[in-house]
Amino acid sequence: MGRSIVTIDDLTNDEIENVFALADEFLQRLAVDGKPERLRGRIQLAEQCVLATLFFEPSTRTRFSFESAMLRLGGHILSSADPASSSAAKGESIADMIRVVQNYADLIVIRHPLEGAARVAAEFADIPVINGGDGRHEHPTQTLCDLYTLRREKKKLKNLNVQLRGDLKRGRTVHSLVYALARFGANIITSSAPGLELPAYVVRRLQRDYDCGPIDVEGLPDDVDGVYVTRRRAVQATLPNLPPDFLIDVSSKGFSSKDFRKIDIFYVTRLQSERPDEEGQKADYPVVSARFLKDRRYRDSSVLHPLPRLDELAYDVDQDDRALYFKQASYGVPVRMALLAALLGLQEGVLAKSKPAGHYPLYTRRGGIACLNPFCVTRNEPEQNYLASKFWILEGDALTLRCLYCDHETTPQCVGRISTKRYDTDLSRWTRIPLEDLIMFADRNAAHAAGFQLYKSRSREHDPLPARTARGVAGSGPPNAAP
Ligand code: NCD
Repeated sequence: MGRSIVTIDDLTNDEIENVFALADEFLQRLAVDGKPERLRGRIQLAEQCVLATLFFEPSTRTRFSFESAMLRLGGHILSSADPASSSAAKGESIADMIRVVQNYADLIVIRHPLEGAARVAAEFADIPVINGGDGRHEHPTQTLCDLYTLRREKKKLKNLNVQLRGDLKRGRTVHSLVYALARFGANIITSSAPGLELPAYVVRRLQRDYDCGPIDVEGLPDDVDGVYVTRRRAVQATLPNLPPDFLIDVSSKGFSSKDFRKIDIFYVTRLQSERPDEEGQKADYPVVSARFLKDRRYRDSSVLHPLPRLDELAYDVDQDDRALYFKQASYGVPVRMALLAALLGLQEGVLAKSKPAGHYPLYTRRGGIACLNPFCVTRNEPEQNYLASKFWILEGDALTLRCLYCDHETTPQCVGRISTKRYDTDLSRWTRIPLEDLIMFADRNAAHAAGFQLYKSRSREHDPLPARTARGVAGSGPPNAAP
């Protein structure tokens, strides 16, 4: 069973660098004269391999660049681009579809409207699966293309000011990108369209997993609604010889608006109007035009866009040297060639054998608390026949559960033991219950409905099990969780 790429955290920073180095090699070998970002011809590396692209949402760049990448590696493709033409239209589950397609191909790229669909595919496949975008959740290979473009242009990511503009709530490219930016030590400056700010669960994951938090800065331009910096990076930037686990509160470093005035990278995104929401429908979406980019802040900004663009980015920017979005789309081929070659085991030394280890205990249970995100794959009818709820148990002020599939967080109000059918509202008790006996409920009514009764005595002295801490439990929590 090979490695799958479901989230950008399925690759370590070193592995990302290795993928980029291999992409550089492919570019050197196949680039067209005078067009260094475009490839021609093929190499014979993947003649024995077949790639299946299963796309249940529209795509031009992602699917074509994956398919072009496979063809240029000398491999073969099976392509399903029309949801209506596959058995999903007849109500087939993701698990069944994947267990069939894995017998026809060596690697699957899947794009699906449900958040967590690629995770389900990866759980059921015995071949590598790549997430080509799962609803509003993540799009890790777009992030690879974004980072590769930036690396070629700016040579580094650390300490760069990256301004993200547009629909940061529903744009999956932005979600994968912010995690990567935090990991590489860039500063994130958000200019969301009104009502379309970064979702709370993304901000919490930034803080919890990468120690990248929002800071208060006075005097920033009106269109900036958030600045996020990585504490570790801030410390290292100021005092490079500190031990790696030494952290300070970033606010005490005293950032000023001057630190964020010059924008190195300006990442524009479109309104995701195909993903309806109560808020953000009538978003005020100022157009980024040649005139707009005359502002001093953007003098040296590289302008990126995952594309497609609608009217948020004027065509008069295309001629500007700062506009990199077509190059960025072009780099999709060498980057995806490198990723495919690595995941197919055709190129040694790019990826480690196993995926990065995590740090949170995993709670898996059918029944009990379920993910509340209406777009989560676990809420879909065919998937409910076989999927259990899976949550990372996060430590903090309150007991918080993060859905393994879609990252949305929820907080239980009761914890119980399956073996005794008893529950308690003292949530700290979860540490005394073995994971295989643990069940959590959204509230007391849910516990009662499931036939559970309140513990007779809440005294912990009578509880024979030793307490454990969240981080002390073996599990495969989010990779790169501790930077
Ligand atoms: C993005 C996507 O599909 O999420 N496009 C892409 O893959 N290049 C961005 C978008 O559709 O807005």
